[in-house]
Order: sequence, then C-alpha cells, then structure tokens
Amino acid sequence: MTETISITVNGEKFIATVPPRTQLAEVLRDHLHLTGTHLGCEQGVCGACTVMMDGHPVRSCITFAGNCDGTTVQTIESSDDDLGQMLTEAFSRHHALQCGFCTPGMLATSRDILTRFPNPDEELVRHELSGNICRCTGYQGIVAAIMDVGSQINVPAQARTEDFRQSAFTPFEPDDSSGATSAPAAVGSVTQDKDWTVITRSLELNHPVGEVWDLFSDVSRVASCVPGASVSDVTENAFSGTVEVSFGPIKARFGGRGTYANNPQARKGHLSGSGADKNGQSNVRGELHYGIMEKAENTSNVDVEFRFSIQGALAQFNRPELVTGFADFLLQRFVANCNSVLSGGVTRPEHKIGAFSLAFAVIKAWFKRGKP
Ligand code: FES
Ligand code: FES
Repeated sequence: MTETISITVNGEKFIATVPPRTQLAEVLRDHLHLTGTHLGCEQGVCGACTVMMDGHPVRSCITFAGNCDGTTVQTIESSDDDLGQMLTEAFSRHHALQCGFCTPGMLATSRDILTRFPNPDEELVRHELSGNICRCTGYQGIVAAIMDVGSQINVPAQARTEDFRQSAFTPFEPDDSSGATSAPAAVGSVTQDKDWTVITRSLELNHPVGEVWDLFSDVSRVASCVPGASVSDVTENAFSGTVEVSFGPIKARFGGRGTYANNPQARKGHLSGSGADKNGQSNVRGELHYGIMEKAENTSNVDVEFRFSIQGALAQFNRPELVTGFADFLLQRFVANCNSVLSGGVTRPEHKIGAFSLAFAVIKAWFKRGKP
C-alpha cells in the first residue's frame, strides 16, 4: 500500500509515492537527498531533525509524510533569507557549534523563537531551546547567538511574525475517527508562566451539577475516564497512580504521588503532584484547580486550570504550541468518557494515547482528582 503526496520543499514542488509509515525525514534525506536534515534519536526527542513546515517547526523524524501533503517545508539547505542569514552569521560569530550535528535543528528552532518573542532574555531562550539537545553541550554560544540576533531585530513580535511566517499557526488537530469524542469543543488558553505551561479550559458536561461533582469527587472513578490513567492507594487526601502513553516509537509510563483537597460547598478542588517516567528520563510536576458550576438544569460547566512543568528528555512538550492541540484531543475524550459514565455506561476500552506523546503531562492532571 502506498500514497501519493505533494510537498513544496525549499520552493520546489515534489510529488512522491511512499508507504504510509514513511516519515518526512526519510523523504527529505532519501528521496530528495537533502541530508542537511539530521537524524539523531528518531523518537522526536533530540530535535536534530527539526525543519520548518508552513512556517512552524516540526520533528521530521516523527512526522508522517502522508500528513504533509500540500504543505510547504523549509530545510537548512534554503535557510538563506534575512533571518536565516543573521542566525547563521551569529552562530559563527559566537562559536555556537562544535561537531555541528545539532545545528540544523538548532537553527530551525532559533528561527521559531525569534519569530515569536521580541528580544528574548537568556531564561526564555534556554527554556525554548530545551527541546533541542546538543551532544557537544555548546549551549552557551547558541543562546548568545539567538539573543544577539534578537537584539538586532528591533520590531514588535507581531510584526516579526508577519514578516517571517508564511502562514498563521494552526494547532495540531488529531483525527479521532473512532467516533467516541462527541463532546463539544472546549474553550480556554495555553500560555507560559516562567517554567510552567498553563492550560485553562471550560468544559461542558450534559449532566446535572450534583452528579458531575460526585464524579469529580471520586478520584478512582474519574481516573477511569482519563485515557491511559489509573490510580491506587487513594487515602483521604493523597493518592498514587500511573499514566501510560504510546505514540509510535515513543512510549512512556509515569508513576507518582499527589495530594488533593476539595470544597464541596463551593464545588471547587485542587491537587498537586509529581512523578517520573519509569525509564527515569523525565520528571513531571503539576497542579490542577477546578470548579464545577450549573449551566442549565441538566448541563454543567467545569472550569480547569492546569499547570505543569517537565524536565528531562521530554521537556520539549512544555511548549504551549505543541500542547494545545493534544490537550483538546485528550479533553474531548475525557468529556466523552465522563458523559458515558454519568449515563451509566463505561469508558472506552482503549487506554493508550495514539497521538503526539506530549499528552502525558495533561493526562497526569486529569487522574488527580479528589473526594470530599
Ligand atoms: S531525530 Fe527527530 S527528534 Fe531526534
Ligand atoms: S554541536 Fe555537536 S551536537 Fe551540537
């Protein structure tokens, strides 16, 4: 089985017929011989393979070529516009590379940083770069180069975005063709607060507020609505649990402990917790605040604010633009499961997340619910 795709790469249209599991990096390197795009981990972790697609950075090692049909891709071979030139010269000036293996991905990410932030400070640059790994550990020069170029581009961030981006950002929107996510779309925001990623959402459940609160008050019951989550050792104000996430080659299983407290009168609650990937490569800490209100006789609103921070190999999933699409994908499944359970049904049998693995941080939030 094959599929035919059309991609514009570095200004030239390219049509190829490839097997469905072919990755964008394979097309670039093996079909187009654009070997400036490097492959390191091939698991979406190191960032070496980062290229720009429709003006936004993507991991070409975990991007199916079939999903790139109709897109515009820019690789290191054509990063010779004004911003590309400035970055290249600054990398040279600041000795921002040693072996150079990470450099194509670093330049792509640098471009993305400078299109979004005016004059980024060191803390911000280091945070934004956390998804790109340099084996030579030459971060000091890379950070200095980005800040140098940032200081030279003396225009507001929005103007820069219009100058350097070819199209508006479109968050990742997974296709859940299984049909179980009949929940209405959530509204809210995904922002950055220092090293925290903050997600706010307002969800709607088609059940009376009392029933919804009862569900949210039972940590074991609500955990069953979260894809991939399970809890154990639930006490009056603490719990332990696991979350499993699987996407292609990326598999993670997180275990941790948390505490919670609820206010049944106000129908509000909060919890906090931390955990680690069983392979020891990443650590997560998070806080969740939620409030449940009556919207209509048989309809309830659930307002949530979830803060999380990831350290380690999966730190790139702190980035709001990566989290947004998957957070909504996960929340849709969660809301659909809640509605099913509240109607006396069961949750979906599948308990792994079959999409971008950044979901694990969001999932961890959802299994940490308390009871009064
Ligand atoms: S090779 Fe793609 S992220 Fe490492
Ligand atoms: S310069 Fe060698 S991996 Fe970054």
